[in-house]
Amino acid sequence: MNIKKITIAIDGFSSTGKSTIAKQLAKELGYLYVDTGAMYRAVTLYAMQFGYVDQNKLEKEALIKSLGNVNLKFKYNEKLLFSEMYLNGVNVEKEIRTIELSKLVSKVSAISEVRKKLVEQQQKMGVEKGIVMDGRDIGTVVFPDAELKLFMTASPEKRATRRYKELLEKGHDVSYEEVLENVQQRDHLDSTREDSPLIKAEDAIAFDNSDMGLKEQFERIYQLVLIKQEQLLD
Ligand code: DC
Repeated sequence: MNIKKITIAIDGFSSTGKSTIAKQLAKELGYLYVDTGAMYRAVTLYAMQFGYVDQNKLEKEALIKSLGNVNLKFKYNEKLLFSEMYLNGVNVEKEIRTIELSKLVSKVSAISEVRKKLVEQQQKMGVEKGIVMDGRDIGTVVFPDAELKLFMTASPEKRATRRYKELLEKGHDVSYEEVLENVQQRDHLDSTREDSPLIKAEDAIAFDNSDMGLKEQFERIYQLVLIKQEQLLD
């Protein structure tokens, strides 16, 4: 019997716990984990550093022209046990998680040229399968043929509470109201953009985890993986 490696696509709204589940699955299965949100966040950081984007403006053409200078890499951190994002050789893991950047990332990720560049990189990472990727368009655009697709949802309040706690733990100075507003604004922008809006792929399994603990969630999803692997046995 030969257990085939599969591709697992996890999409959903912000702060639905996609990355926690994705990381855990990847660890359990010995798969590669890719956080595509970190890639969109890193391009946004680049745009901020060069003054192409702020609260009041977006210099789209200038950013598109300089996309060739944006080099993104994930490097595994042996101590923290996860891959960190490097922008042009610099570890930007902390900078890409600030609330200031979260307020701008949906603007930058709506640009088709940005999406094209990142989707190409993501598809290359998944050529060999054995990958868990999370984001907004993984099951619809990046890997439409993924063997297992999940679509995670939870109420905006639950999600804002989770993200707020996370940010406080990491030492960021934010209020709950600010985080809730950001979550709602990003939901709206991510779902209504023209290019690759956040929608559930027809064949994705919807998963509302508003009232579900991590352990239960993981167990249920892991079962889905095992079922899929069994179907593919030869
Ligand atoms: O998963 P996250 O919250 O870190 O993602 C940050 C933003 O990046 C999100 O608001 C929308 C964008 N994004 C996207 O457009 N497509 C993806 N595949 C992943 C993220």
